Amino acid sequence: MSDAAYEFMSASRERVDRLLAGLEMRQDPVGLYDPVRYVLEAPGKRIRPLLTLASAALYDAPENDALSVAAAMEVFHSFTLVHDDIMDGAAERRGRAAVHIKWDEPTAILCGDYLMGLSMELVAGIDSPRRSDVIRRFLATVRTLCEGQIRDMRFEQKMNVPLDDYMLMIGQKTAALLQTSVVLGGMLGDAPPGDILHLEHYGEHLGLAFQIQDDLLDVTADESSWGKPVGGDLVTGKRTWLLLRALEVTVGEDYTWFRRILSDGLDADLIPEARRRLSAAGILDAAQKAVIFHSEAARRHLDHLPDRRERDVFRELAVELERRVH
Ligand code: IPE
Ligand code: IPE
Ligand code: MG
Ligand code: MG
Ligand code: MG
Repeated sequence: MSDAAYEFMSASRERVDRLLAGLEMRQDPVGLYDPVRYVLEAPGKRIRPLLTLASAALYDAPENDALSVAAAMEVFHSFTLVHDDIMDGAAERRGRAAVHIKWDEPTAILCGDYLMGLSMELVAGIDSPRRSDVIRRFLATVRTLCEGQIRDMRFEQKMNVPLDDYMLMIGQKTAALLQTSVVLGGMLGDAPPGDILHLEHYGEHLGLAFQIQDDLLDVTADESSWGKPVGGDLVTGKRTWLLLRALEVTVGEDYTWFRRILSDGLDADLIPEARRRLSAAGILDAAQKAVIFHSEAARRHLDHLPDRRERDVFRELAVELERRVH
């Protein structure tokens, strides 16, 4: 990675962490503010704010606005994780107990609501001439994300989910937020409409790669770095890229074995066998190829953007995400 890109990325992550830690927050009632602080302090990768800061810097957007929107993206993302863990029945997040486990579901619902409100306050507080466009785009993304999450939930009851439907779903539940994070930085810097289109495509492909990688890592990651239980998607019978692909390409006993996961989930003891079968059927390699396909598609759009250091950040970030282990 180029030194300049690396420096930009680590400095940006630090700025976002500092801003999140410095957000003015009441103490009382502790039943609300303890979990809110717990979420904001958790070690996330800060991908979304990094995307906003990179595109804002590429078009010389005012720093204060960029930082507020970047922080809003992370706060909003954190909200989605708190509610997602309730929906997915997931007990761990970022290496620690999920909010609904450490406290309870009503607390997690409220903590999420609070974070969503906070993210809107951060976006609404900007001073940009593009303020209303930025707010509208942000709010439209909330709608898209809800559509994606409900599709994801509904898939749980379906025995036949085509991969095309899955791609539409992850475009909404995951890629939309990465896409918007990139685009908002460009909007704040008044990027030309042609450039905005390339930012849109970059963000979308990066987001698709990101979610397929998330599905892959759920099977292949190391428990200590992953921060959530490895194999959790298989245990709950989640319709991931890997499972849907396995159902498309396997036959006979292998097919029956994977198909049973759709209705019964998987005993945690059988996760190593699932990994072995997925590997033998070429699914792990195919998933990695799909990640690289979308990551490369994302990177191709960068050739159309201004040739400046911040453009390298987008390139490096795509490569970093392809290689990520958590
Ligand atoms: C997790 O996102 C949710 C998905 C969209 C797969 P991240 O992997 O970016 O989570 P953190 O913020 O680093 O914890
Ligand atoms: C994440 O999907 C999408 C959102 C949080 C909106 P997942 O359910 O796959 O994310 P993880 O695996 O719990 O992080
Ligand atoms: Mg989910
Ligand atoms: Mg989840
Ligand atoms: Mg996942």
